[in-house]
Amino acid sequence: IYKWYRSGLNRWHGPGSTPDFQDIIEDRCYNYTQRIRPDSRSRNCQEIKQAFMSAFISKDPCKATKEDYRRLIDLADPTVPCNKRVLWSKTKELAREYAKLRGLVTLEDTLLGFLADRLHWCGEPGSPDLNTWSCPDWEKDCRTNYRSVFWEVLSERFAESACGTVQVLLNGSLENAFDEMSIFGRVEAPNLKPMVTLQVWLVHDPGKPPRDSCSGSSIKKLKSILSERNVRFICRDNLSRDLFLRSS
Ligand code: APR
Repeated sequence: IYKWYRSGLNRWHGPGSTPDFQDIIEDRCYNYTQRIRPDSRSRNCQEIKQAFMSAFISKDPCKATKEDYRRLIDLADPTVPCNKRVLWSKTKELAREYAKLRGLVTLEDTLLGFLADRLHWCGEPGSPDLNTWSCPDWEKDCRTNYRSVFWEVLSERFAESACGTVQVLLNGSLENAFDEMSIFGRVEAPNLKPMVTLQVWLVHDPGKPPRDSCSGSSIKKLKSILSERNVRFICRDNLSRDLFLRSS
């Protein structure tokens, strides 16, 4: 029984594929292209859904490559303005709220980011179905899983095509607000174009003192990654969440 368990659909350590994944993608696609951003009405949602499915169905869930998502990305390249982008790390809900208030965009405001937001997906070699029992976890199973590679490809493109001032919301309640192993740290910061200005906001939980600051060692590390690339850097710290949303 143990052998069956380890070799079967239950062997991974991450949550399984979201039930009704295909239907959710399809619904979200129509909602986005027809209601939320009617300027993208010409996108073909059936084609997009099929390209998404064929990226990972029947494949080893630990062998995702950027190439697997090429067709999907070509079908749904983002059209959001390059100078209004907000990045985040451990601050997703806050970043969404901030972007909405200020007329800015996060990756989840692009078509593909919107489609996949909060979902899980993986397949199984030799099977036409999604594995709804378990999917590989980045730390415990493999980094090259389909969900992680998806967010990496999307994030890389989102960052490298950004222009003007790019903002990033980091979590000032953590000891290291800048995490070199996060997608922001590994993929986005190192792919910003020269001459871009990165505006860092260090936002902490209300009612608690901040734990990291613009002069702390984690932000210094970020600063050095950026200066190598000629990206300008501005940092504001000591911002409580509520104050930040109301006043920034
Ligand atoms: N929904 C679910 N999971 C997501 C989403 C999303 N919309 N975006 C990213 N993820 C996954 C990624 O695997 C990511 O590593 O959840 C993880 C979130 O981890 P954090 O450490 O909070 O943030 P980070 O790794 O820095 O990734 C966020 O990458 O997706 C881009 O533009 C986005 O700037 C943001 C950064």
